[in-house]
Amino acid sequence: MKGIDSSHVLIAPSLLSSDFTRLGEAIVLMEEVGADLLHCDVMDGHFVPNLTFGPPIIKAIKENTEIPLDVHLMITNTDETLEWYIDVDPRIISVHAESCIHLHRVIQAIKDAGILAGVVVNPGSSLHIIEDVIEDVDLVMLMSVNPGFGGQSFIGRAVDKCIHLKEICEERGVDPIIMIDGGINPRTAPAMVRAGATCLVAGNAVLGEADPIAAYRALRKAVDSAQEKA
Ligand code: DX5
Ligand code: ZN
Repeated sequence: MKGIDSSHVLIAPSLLSSDFTRLGEAIVLMEEVGADLLHCDVMDGHFVPNLTFGPPIIKAIKENTEIPLDVHLMITNTDETLEWYIDVDPRIISVHAESCIHLHRVIQAIKDAGILAGVVVNPGSSLHIIEDVIEDVDLVMLMSVNPGFGGQSFIGRAVDKCIHLKEICEERGVDPIIMIDGGINPRTAPAMVRAGATCLVAGNAVLGEADPIAAYRALRKAVDSAQEKA
């Protein structure tokens, strides 16, 4: 799928857990370990109670790495500001179903720009809200924490939700990337892999660790062995 290696479960380290004064160094480390994607968490202080960065910083990141960028928009006015993110041309843009007034239109706009389109569901939202776009998207992201902060505890209900999502996808004959975001670490990742997740975001468990290279490799190992047994 558009330059994304789908032969193994993908790992997308989140830059949210890096030292923002040393973003460039974090990116170099993630290149060294061969991270599949770089997850960029955009927060606006409205949709979630935190603020991070926007298009200028994502553009700067893109100009400084070959790792495909995975932009996760946690913003209230997705419909109005989507173009700003499309202009940066990341590999993936994911939007919250809860934040889009015209979800179908937003997804089409992302795809029309040649960018992979993802739809995100909060822990408190039912999968019903994405059923009418599931055939249109390239990726479905299930939040396994309430969005806004790194380092929160994994919400175990995400496992059953992922199994249910896989069933819906099979019924519809579609096979989007299934991404899980929040509280992923070597202990929580295996259950998500067994449940059918194909991409895991990891913030604190990689760039929040003192040795991000060792931490990435430990997560990769846990994911790979769960995939072999699945
Ligand atoms: C949370 C963000 C996540 C965050 C995950 O709102 O969407 O991407 O970086 O961080 P961890 O892995 O620490 O839960
Ligand atoms: Zn995220």
